[in-house]
Amino acid sequence: MTRTSLANAVVGASIALMVGSGTARAAENTPAVNTSAQPTIVAPRGDAAKGQVIAGQVCAACHGADGNSALAANPVLAGQHAGYIAKQLAEFKAGVRKNAIMMGFAAALSQQDMLDLGAFYSRQKATPRAANDKELALIGQKLFRAGNTAVGLPACAGCHSPNGAGIPAQYPRLAGQHTEYTIGQLRAFYAGERGNDSNKVMRTIASRLSEREMQAVAEYVSGLTSAR
Ligand code: HEC
Ligand code: HEC
Repeated sequence: MTRTSLANAVVGASIALMVGSGTARAAENTPAVNTSAQPTIVAPRGDAAKGQVIAGQVCAACHGADGNSALAANPVLAGQHAGYIAKQLAEFKAGVRKNAIMMGFAAALSQQDMLDLGAFYSRQKATPRAANDKELALIGQKLFRAGNTAVGLPACAGCHSPNGAGIPAQYPRLAGQHTEYTIGQLRAFYAGERGNDSNKVMRTIASRLSEREMQAVAEYVSGLTSAR
């Protein structure tokens, strides 16, 4: 097995485990506490209260108590989809998504912890942020909404939704994210350093963006505010 096919297999497995069956989506939309006397559902789902404990003890230092991080290198997790968060944590732990800091923190988490953390952060509200460079954001807006047919670039809005809220659980929320973090991820997809996107979807998209366009679209999404 080549490295790539191995990585894809691991990604595939973790998606099937945490996202594919729709259980991650269920975890996002159903209350974590089972208050009814209905038959117990055995699908894995997150407990936001348990997630909050781990988040407060381990993650808050970098991601903020409610997932609104202060430093631009640390992504905002508030309002991010539970299934996407759980997938990223599983892939940091498996080494499929590489980042020295996060591989260390994810190593200590169980699959249930990951679901719990996802449940917690998905329920937090992202602090609205404004784009700093309006001119650059306008260039980004055009790319985000319409893509660029000349190079076969699809509109980001098609997957990440017109308001940047994403579509649970596969397509992450981008709205209100730190510009620097978003640029960093686009560069990493471009260089193939981040390779946990199934079917190379984001690697292909990033390969069709110039450095300037990455900055523009990152600037634009940072100023998007969506309902969650
Ligand atoms: C020392 C700082 C630090 C701590 C502590 C930390 N993180 Fe992170 N986290 C980061 C950085 C930096 C990144 C960006 C990694 C990259 O560039 O790929 C990140 C990325 C992530 C991502 C990916 C977000 C996305 O949008 O794809 C998730 C999810 C995450 N962290 C969750 C956690 C959780 C849960 C904890 C606690 C168990 C935690 N982090 C603790 C620094 C930290
Ligand atoms: C065909 C669907 C699709 C389109 C179109 C698309 N994306 Fe994505 N994007 C994804 C998926 C799927 C992921 C999650 C990959 C993973 O699971 O790690 C993602 C992840 C990302 C991330 C990482 C988010 C994070 O929190 O780390 C960024 C940034 C991003 N996309 C930006 C863009 C931009 C900018 C565009 C338009 C130029 C775009 N995407 C178009 C599917 C798409």
